[in-house]
Amino acid sequence: MSGLSMARAKRIVGLGGTFRQASSSERIVRAVLADCAALGAQTIMFDGPALARLPHFNPENPTRTDAESALVEAVRDCDGIVIGSPGYHGGYSGLVKNAVDLLEDLRADARVYFDGRPVGLVVTAAGWQACGTTLSAMRDVVHAMRGWPTPVGVAVNSVEQRPFGPDGALTDDGVARAVRAQAQQIMAFAMAAVPAENVA
Ligand SMILES: Cc1cc2nc3c(=O)[nH]c(=O)nc-3n(C[C@H](O)[C@H](O)[C@H](O)COP(=O)(O)O)c2cc1C
Repeated sequence: MSGLSMARAKRIVGLGGTFRQASSSERIVRAVLADCAALGAQTIMFDGPALARLPHFNPENPTRTDAESALVEAVRDCDGIVIGSPGYHGGYSGLVKNAVDLLEDLRADARVYFDGRPVGLVVTAAGWQACGTTLSAMRDVVHAMRGWPTPVGVAVNSVEQRPFGPDGALTDDGVARAVRAQAQQIMAFAMAAVPAENVA
């Protein structure tokens, strides 16, 4: 093989959503992933039902189910992450937190947790207060896990904005612009990122 090997496509992992068929947080995460894909990314989504297959995280149980391994390996191997949650009681959902806690498996990696990677955050809630508090709480978690929350967070008031058409497509221009801006920031960061071991 020549030294001019093709750069691999950036891999962006989405996780989030709820059990609801028309989960708005899942749809917005999928919209960010679609915009990342339009910019050349390979994407994979772990939606509400996929996250529901994860057992409750138990730090004393080292065995992993296939569902757990799939999520851990996808995040281990990725160049960027999108996390979406509904605002539940002013914070993010237990379903999403359980998935994030499982990523403790990346604790001993050379690239620990979300190290060196952009993390786009998405919240939908019935009110603006939970949009703000939930987004802020998720940013704190990403910082704790050494990730880089993108400057653009997407917070959608699912009662006032109703950003989807009858077919589930994103129809609100303002939300679509925020989604696109977040995807652009994820991809720009992922393409510029210098592997941690190369930083003096
Ligand atoms: C258990 C529960 C708690 C909720 N708590 C809040 C809340 O504190 N503030 C708020 O604005 N909306 C709250 N909501 C509304 C959801 O955040 C909102 O409907 C969200 O868009 C649902 O996301 P989904 O469409 O992905 O299921 C709550 C909903 C549920 C089911």
